[in-house]
Amino acid sequence: MTREVIPSGAALGADIQGIDISKPLNDDDRKFVTHAWNDHLVLRFRKQYLEDEDLIRLADEFGGAQVAGSRQYYINAGYDTKSGRVSRLPGITIVSNLDKDGKPEKENSGTGSSELFWHTDNSYVDNPPKGSILYGIQVPINGGGDTSFVNQYAAYEELSDAMKKRLLAMHIRHDNSRNTAGGTRPTAKRPTKREEVDGPTHPIVRKHPDTGRNALYLGRRYAPPSSYIVELPQDDSEALLDELWAHATQDKFVWTQVWQPKDVIMWDNRCTMHTRNKIDHTQPREMHRSLIKGEPIIPATAP
Ligand code: SIN
Repeated sequence: MTREVIPSGAALGADIQGIDISKPLNDDDRKFVTHAWNDHLVLRFRKQYLEDEDLIRLADEFGGAQVAGSRQYYINAGYDTKSGRVSRLPGITIVSNLDKDGKPEKENSGTGSSELFWHTDNSYVDNPPKGSILYGIQVPINGGGDTSFVNQYAAYEELSDAMKKRLLAMHIRHDNSRNTAGGTRPTAKRPTKREEVDGPTHPIVRKHPDTGRNALYLGRRYAPPSSYIVELPQDDSEALLDELWAHATQDKFVWTQVWQPKDVIMWDNRCTMHTRNKIDHTQPREMHRSLIKGEPIIPATAP
């Protein structure tokens, strides 16, 4: 099969055909994929038969595997590899709605059963991963659990010049106490006031190291007290975050992945956010994810 990039036709997303990612990639294929990734931000590879080791190898090929920030919270709370929450290999995150016996459940101690908020993976760590690779081992058929992505270059580029200028000097403190379904992480302390919000501070607009383009970098949003704009008083921070979140998640910036078994999706966390809709809790959904190590965040420069 010849190598091909087939754009989704939406604001981001493309299928890659003719590359077998179950085997180590040669330099030419890796460059081809990197080029397509920079152009389309989210890539889909269908009908891939992978082991966890392949997901880690793929992360290594694109910059190195990174351990998810959530893993340590589960380990601290006493979860082990038999719990279904903590993977055998540290570089793998289990995103699954299965219980210990492999049956789908409506709620579990992870985020695999619920709807997810819009977010960027691991924005709550000092050096967030540049990319994520998610493999659909078992997926619901016509049962939700679709993953939608938004293009944050486009969101940034459509802001007014005055807003772009204003944001250049701003940073968000990223609340690390809650997961992407809004639940408090095991052993984490939920903040009761702004001063208690714990997590790193990142620029609100970041520059992509490969493309040189600026992208909005909002991370995730929960009811306050939670992530906030460091340079603004609380009410002004909430008002500006309301405006930016409404802007950044408009339909015109979205592409949705409707999963088929054995799909692999590779997305760029530096210029996209994603969410997941409701899941039919009678159907299994089992995904394994690896993360690609991030470089230190580069603040945006004036357009
Ligand atoms: C994730 O947020 O990394 C998981 C998304 C999904 O399960 O579709």
